[in-house]
Amino acid sequence: MKLWGGRFTKPTNQLVEEYTASIPFDQRLVEEDIRGSLAHVRMLGASGILTASEVDTITKGLEQIQKRVLAKEVEFSIAHEDIHMNIEKLLIDEVGPVGGKLHTGRSRNDQVALDMHLFVRRSTVELIQGLTELRRALVAKAEAHVDTILPGYTHLQRAQPVRFGHHLLAYVEMFGRDVERLQDSYKRVDTMPLGAGAIAGSTFPIQRELVADELGFSRLYENSMDAVSDRDYLVEFLSCASLIMVHLSRLSEELILWSSEEFGYVELDDAFCTGSSMMPQKKNPDVPELIRGKVGRVIGHGVSLLTTLKALPLTYNKDMQEDKEGIFDTVDTLAGALALTAPMVEGLKVKEERMRENAEGGFTNATDLAEYLVTKGVPFREAHAVVGKLVLHCLEANQSLLDLTLAEYQAAHPAIEEDIFHRLSLEVVTDARSAGCGTARERVVEVIQKKKEEIDEA
Ligand code: ARG
Repeated sequence: MKLWGGRFTKPTNQLVEEYTASIPFDQRLVEEDIRGSLAHVRMLGASGILTASEVDTITKGLEQIQKRVLAKEVEFSIAHEDIHMNIEKLLIDEVGPVGGKLHTGRSRNDQVALDMHLFVRRSTVELIQGLTELRRALVAKAEAHVDTILPGYTHLQRAQPVRFGHHLLAYVEMFGRDVERLQDSYKRVDTMPLGAGAIAGSTFPIQRELVADELGFSRLYENSMDAVSDRDYLVEFLSCASLIMVHLSRLSEELILWSSEEFGYVELDDAFCTGSSMMPQKKNPDVPELIRGKVGRVIGHGVSLLTTLKALPLTYNKDMQEDKEGIFDTVDTLAGALALTAPMVEGLKVKEERMRENAEGGFTNATDLAEYLVTKGVPFREAHAVVGKLVLHCLEANQSLLDLTLAEYQAAHPAIEEDIFHRLSLEVVTDARSAGCGTARERVVEVIQKKKEEIDEA
């Protein structure tokens, strides 16, 4: 007999049972579910709805179930549909009919909302920790490579030289914004739905504040219909997660490119690579590739939930059961990617000479030659054209700008003097960008310090 079987005259069709059950995946909420029930029953006692001895019996029963769950002694059953009814059934089996009083003043609709709020709240905290560890690893690598210079790219064409530390700090900023976004969405995750009942609230003199206090929620839902139908916090979570995955995929893509023979800028630690079953020479960057590949499923979960919610009438609808698997998979995918990327960055071998060689080629100092002419009073547009011609000349002669003689420079423009050779060296070129958020050494060192403090405060 089902816990809700009173008004039914037939047993549930077997296929229906299998199709509608969420226990195969929502058993992941077991800890949250029991924790929520413990807080609920204590409140029922404090509000005079259950007697002290009933509360005591139910509490002990739930604690017993919790122990058995931890010891993996409990078997859940699809006949009881979901985690909420499975626990309630186990409780009644454990303590007898008094266990049936646990669900007083509560519905699975506000119960499942509570469980998901608890789960996402904990996951948000864990993801912030993961992001913080990754930022720490990136800052440490940046600090070790303040003086490593590589070409910065636009259109994947060499643009201007940058310090490798500066390049890595760009990711520290991205992941910093990700932390801020999670912290902001946390406010809405940290809102307590219990007390909404199935839809309209409770006829019992419940005290929602007690439950919220015990579970550490800082806010309460103020509308029962919203409390049971709100899944915005899940959409926000998935959207934050998607953006984090996108950031991880951009870093992954750079690691993949840089570790190719063609770039040759980095080598990933052997422990983070795999080989080929056929080609003995191969060392493949599978981890960043897979992270790059897994972005699709996380974005997919976000799109999927939005699609499920679109045009869904108030309040709870069974459609909403579809929110869970995507959330669980997102947490696992993202936590795994963060946990791998931090040590991968730490173990990264940086090939400084190769970076420098490429920064010296490709005319990454051409802008500086043009700006040098500007400081001599030449209009920028004219300077641009002069340098463009010199670049063309160098390309034909297979030279770099630093290979030109002073005579060649002066033939191109009489304002160019001996000091140009110093001005076009990589260090001077990067350090010239000391204004604002540029790649000058002093700026990079300053930002590293600032980020370290920021991370320590987090
Ligand atoms: N398993 C359900 C879910 O995950 C729990 C809520 C069910 N409520 C109901 N009235 N059927 O959404």
